[in-house]
Amino acid sequence: MNAVPAGPILCCEDVSREFVTERKAIIGTPKKKFLAVNGVSLCIEAGETVGIVGESGSGKSTLGEILGGLREPTRGTVRFRGVALKDMDEGQYQRYRRNVQFIFQDPKGSMHPQFRIRQIIGEPLLTLKICSDRAQRRQLVKDMIDQVGLEEGTAEKYPSELSGGQCQRVAIARALIVHPKIIICDEPVSALDVSVQAQILNLLKELQQAHEIAYIFISHDIGVVNYMADRIIVMNRGSIVETGTAEQVFYSPVDEYTRKLVASSFAS
Ligand SMILES: Nc1ncnc2c1ncn2[C@@H]1O[C@H](COP(=O)(O)OP(=O)(O)O)[C@@H](O)[C@H]1O
Ligand SMILES: [Mg+2]
Repeated sequence: MNAVPAGPILCCEDVSREFVTERKAIIGTPKKKFLAVNGVSLCIEAGETVGIVGESGSGKSTLGEILGGLREPTRGTVRFRGVALKDMDEGQYQRYRRNVQFIFQDPKGSMHPQFRIRQIIGEPLLTLKICSDRAQRRQLVKDMIDQVGLEEGTAEKYPSELSGGQCQRVAIARALIVHPKIIICDEPVSALDVSVQAQILNLLKELQQAHEIAYIFISHDIGVVNYMADRIIVMNRGSIVETGTAEQVFYSPVDEYTRKLVASSFAS
């Protein structure tokens, strides 16, 4: 029997990110340092959904970028399967990048307007050197298009010909095609109509069941996060202010800031 690696897939330990803001217009003004993420530690287990919620500017996206290797922390460690990113050899780093994928709020913005959907969904297979055979890639893309509920003919279209919801399905297909262990979803439905939001959220849930993917689900809306997540992490000004099961955090929030988020979620 093959040994299944025990423990969490992805962790960060005491991670911080400082930004230095330059005010070029005013000569002699000292640069201001700003902590967007401040001493955050968390772990994600296989197949679970961890929600990260907080008001705009609370550091959610920066934390997501750090966890997914898109941004370096100024302090702290990110580990994938127990190995710190900074200690990884090339092969380990490649495996990490393959296993941790992203979905963003604005899917069209991350798609080359002159590429057909077929190329967009198949691109990670090329860049991550997973499949160089054209016919095989076509088949894998076709399977993905079907799995995310798009029509087969979508493959020949361009991003501008699709709706926001269809584009987000394309983004999901592009993330899923490399069979990641984790997808970091950063406000994936915030730009969509409410009826389309529910369809995308339910699609993410179905795909999670089928593929045993873990999600880091980032949103400013604690109602949406509660719908998706097993556990919730509440962030305020770069720090974690409350964590717990979704039920605890949403229905019995302890922190004053979390209570405010819940109240505003019911009001909207
Ligand atoms: N590249 C950057 N340079 C300077 N400040 C940044 C940069 N990216 C984010 N910030 C600041 O860090 C804080 C957290 O941003 P972000 O992580 O995007 O928050 P959220 O996703 O919760 O809205 C914000 O105040 C934002 O202005
Ligand atoms: Mg954000």
